[in-house]
Amino acid sequence: MQTPYLGDDSFSFEESVIGALRQAASDQRMLYEELRDEFERQEDAGLQMMLRLASVAEFRNDESAAHIVRIGCLAEELARLAGWSSSWCTAIRMAAPLHDIGKLAIADATLLKPGPLTEAERVAVNRHCEVGAHLLSGSTSPVLKLAAEIARTHHEHFDGSGYPQGLQGREIPLSGRIVALVDFFDVLAMDRCYRPRYGDDQIFDMIVSRSGRQFDPTLVDLLIANAPHFRATRDHIGNKPVGVDILRRYQSLPR
Ligand SMILES: [Fe+2]
Ligand SMILES: [Fe+2]
Repeated sequence: MQTPYLGDDSFSFEESVIGALRQAASDQRMLYEELRDEFERQEDAGLQMMLRLASVAEFRNDESAAHIVRIGCLAEELARLAGWSSSWCTAIRMAAPLHDIGKLAIADATLLKPGPLTEAERVAVNRHCEVGAHLLSGSTSPVLKLAAEIARTHHEHFDGSGYPQGLQGREIPLSGRIVALVDFFDVLAMDRCYRPRYGDDQIFDMIVSRSGRQFDPTLVDLLIANAPHFRATRDHIGNKPVGVDILRRYQSLPR
């Protein structure tokens, strides 16, 4: 029996099915991109508010607030050198600036005190880790979840002598180990009410002397091996205004 001639109709039927599938895939992609953009807009609005709070929390004025933007970018640089994925590096850049948001709960008289703190004041200051983690917890945003982890763990020491939990070594999440180091690096280069800024050579010496005690020695090695890059990144960001846009648009300097 002769095979019926299906002619151009069957060809165009196949073509139209493929075309319809392509259209459906393209519609799905557009919908996904719209949802992703909307999610990012919502997340940015929340982050913008959190960044404002974090800058007030740590410094009570705007002039030192760029520190929190620098911490985000420096944390990303260290995460990249440690070999972490691009998406995780971006997440830590957005999350790290919120590390000290719990300082909102510390009274001005204590936070801005030029002299040494009493025991009670020290306890109040140390609570900022748990307060910050509490403020940032409960969100579905991956950035805010990471920020909560950082807030809770950025004062833990590699040898277990830190607070609030006395975690040791790799018990401390990598995010907390990274932020502990870049926070120390950046804040020592700033004038504070209780001391003038340190010079870079002195800062690097202090970091090396704390390797394995306060800081993860692998991360210290990476930072010291790339010291000019970290100094250039810190100085490049300088005193840029605090904002989600600055953090989102950040591009690494060439190494
Ligand atoms: Fe802190
Ligand atoms: Fe800080």
